[in-house]
Amino acid sequence: MIRVEALSKSFAGRPAVDALQFEVAPGEIFGYLGPNGAGKTTTQRLLMGLLKPTGGRASIGGLDIVERSLDVRRITGFMPDTPFLYEFMTARQFLGFVAEVHELSPREAVGAVVPLLERFELAGRLDSRLSGYSWGMTKKLTLAALLVARPKVLLLDEPTTGMDPRSVRVMKDLIRDLAQSGCTVLLSTHTLSVAEELCHRVAILRQGRIIAVGSPTELRTQAGAAGRDLESVFLQLTAEESSSAGAPVPAGA
Ligand SMILES: Nc1ncnc2c1ncn2[C@@H]1O[C@H](COP(=O)(O)OP(=O)(O)OP(=O)(O)O)[C@@H](O)[C@H]1O
Ligand SMILES: [Mg+2]
Repeated sequence: MIRVEALSKSFAGRPAVDALQFEVAPGEIFGYLGPNGAGKTTTQRLLMGLLKPTGGRASIGGLDIVERSLDVRRITGFMPDTPFLYEFMTARQFLGFVAEVHELSPREAVGAVVPLLERFELAGRLDSRLSGYSWGMTKKLTLAALLVARPKVLLLDEPTTGMDPRSVRVMKDLIRDLAQSGCTVLLSTHTLSVAEELCHRVAILRQGRIIAVGSPTELRTQAGAAGRDLESVFLQLTAEESSSAGAPVPAGA
C-alpha cells in the first residue's frame, strides 16, 4: 500500500532522509522509530506531499506522491506531531467543516465519530471552543477528524505523545481495529512499548537511513537480544551505528 524507493530529501545540501527503501502492506501497522532528527517527520511530510523529494520516489495505493499528490491526500490521513486546529470553532463545527471539505454530510460525519469521542471522554466537549482544548484533547480531536474521511492509509507522527494512559489505551485499540478493517498505518513513536505492542514490523532510522527493519521479534534476534525488549534493541542498534560512524569512544572504555 505504501512503497518507498530510494527516497531522499536534503535541506541545503544536508540529507535529512537518504535512499529510504521500504514497503507497507495493506492492513499492516508499520512502526517508524529513531532518535530525534533521524528523519521520521520528514518521511511522513514527503509521503503527504508537503515536501518535495530530492531523489527517489514513493507511492501510496499505487499513486505517485509527487504526480498524484492530491489523490494521495484523498485516501491518506496525516496526524502531525503538533496538530493545528481552528481555535475559533467548536469541535462540532470543526468536524462538520472537515466533512464538508470531503463532500460528506456534516451531520452524519459527526455522528460517525461520536462513539470515538465518547471513548476519548470528549463527547461532552463537542460544543466547546477549540481554544479551550488541552494538548491531549487537541490530539484526540485531530484523530477523530482524520477518521471522518475514512482514510485507507494513516500517517501518525507520535500519536500517543501527551495523552493520558487511558487515552493511550483507546488509541492503541483504535489503531489495531482500523488495521484489522484494512487501514494501513505508518506511525512514528518514541514510546517503544507502543511500537512493540502494536506494530507488525518496525523500521529503525538513524541519520536519515534505515538501519534495521523487521518484526520486533526479528529485530531482537538480529541484534542478538532475544528475550530482551525493543528498547534494548533500539539502544544497541542506534549506539552501534554511532560508533561505526566514528563517534568518540567513551572515556575509560
Ligand atoms: N524544514 C527544514 N529545514 C531544514 N532542516 C530540516 C527541516 N525539516 C527537518 N530538517 C532536518 O532534517 C533532519 C530530520 O528531521 P525530522 O524532523 O525528520 O526528524 P525526526 O526523526 O522527526 O525527529 P524528532 O524525533 O525530533 O521528531 C534533522 O536534521 C532536521 O534538522
Ligand atoms: Mg519528528
